[in-house]
Amino acid sequence: MDEENEPHPALRGLRTVCRCNNIKHKTIERAIRDGATTIPAVAAKTTATTGLCGGTCTPVVMDMIEEIEDENVEGSQA
Ligand code: FES
Repeated sequence: MDEENEPHPALRGLRTVCRCNNIKHKTIERAIRDGATTIPAVAAKTTATTGLCGGTCTPVVMDMIEEIEDENVEGSQA
């Protein structure tokens, strides 16, 4: 999704990423920022990706991990 179509961060946080387990974007974001930078680690902290559907939300969680890691790399270069 390009930046112009991104919802405001506050709205994005309320979006449900994992419908099986009703896990919101902000919950997963917090887990990643707390050090869960792999799918198993996010799953252990939030249960996202572990639902009955077999993990259709996994690509979204992977994108979030990449996005937050990129932010951290950019931030550490400043
Ligand atoms: S939507 Fe996340 S495991 Fe099904």
